[in-house]
Amino acid sequence: MAETGPAISVEGLHKSYGERRVLAGVELHVGRGEVLALLGPNGAGKTTTIEILEGFRPLTAGSVRVLGFDPWTHPRELRERTGVVLQACGFPQHLRVGELVDAWRAYFSRPRPTAELLEVVELHDEQRTLVRRLSGGQRRRLDFALGLAGDPDVMFLDEPTTGFDPEARRRCWSAIENLSALGKTVLLTTHYLDEAERLADRVAILAAGRIQAIGTPQDLARLADTPTSISFGASATRSRASALLETLDARVDDRRVTIRTRAPSAALEELLHSVGDLPDLVVAPPTLEDSYLALIADAGALVP
Ligand SMILES: Nc1ncnc2c1ncn2[C@@H]1O[C@H](COP(=O)(O)OP(=O)(O)OP(=O)(O)O)[C@@H](O)[C@H]1O
Ligand SMILES: [Mg+2]
Repeated sequence: MAETGPAISVEGLHKSYGERRVLAGVELHVGRGEVLALLGPNGAGKTTTIEILEGFRPLTAGSVRVLGFDPWTHPRELRERTGVVLQACGFPQHLRVGELVDAWRAYFSRPRPTAELLEVVELHDEQRTLVRRLSGGQRRRLDFALGLAGDPDVMFLDEPTTGFDPEARRRCWSAIENLSALGKTVLLTTHYLDEAERLADRVAILAAGRIQAIGTPQDLARLADTPTSISFGASATRSRASALLETLDARVDDRRVTIRTRAPSAALEELLHSVGDLPDLVVAPPTLEDSYLALIADAGALVP
């Protein structure tokens, strides 16, 4: 079977649950070794897409391939080569972390060593901890370790960090970065745009049954027709700058001056020239969030 070509390809994917249409022509290709983040509002069909790719759900129409195989008709070929971290799952609570990983490894023909798995997910110090004593963030990382046990080429991570505190999220991110460093292909879903920006080579936005946009986080941020915002402490403004601030349509309150412009370099140059030093300067370019919100609003709803 094909060992070249994309790790994941989705063509014309349609999925309905009874009368309810969820996916209506999804096109998506994920390269080998790539990390792709699938974004979209609640109910957009992200989990549905991932579960079809995992071979857990049949599709209604279209075609999907993972490492060249149809996951619905060839689950055995893919079982050892894909790792799955579901949106929600349970563990036997009475085992210790190391015991659970060992037990899980026994299902695979060429499992990665337990110590290495715990290292990748930064749980090496918890090897002897009872599973029921783990925090939510540690459990999620244990999910990763189990997903990685069979040394898969492709990992599916459905909302890997939902509900985590900032520190736990960062540890999860580093576990995902470790996966990527091992050359794994990763398809993850998330509602956190900073997470997508940080981890993903490319981001795809799913809404109204289709991929509305796909590209690097920077490419997608540029899609937003929002201006760059320049702001600085109001104490810097002097009367001779007021004409310039008026020209730039600045908003001034007693603390900060804020300018929104599509020509940020020119505006900054003029400001530095006439105002001088700009204390607490913040330059905020259009973000992935701006594009995301605009694309979701434009996509509207999928009419059944
Ligand atoms: N087994 C099912 N039977 C009927 N409808 C379902 C089933 N599973 C999901 N759905 C519906 O399909 C739509 C897409 O659900 P899905 O879980 O794929 O969305 P999602 O993008 O993962 O959402 P979230 O961000 O909330 O996780 C939802 O309207 C959901 O109610
Ligand atoms: Mg979901």
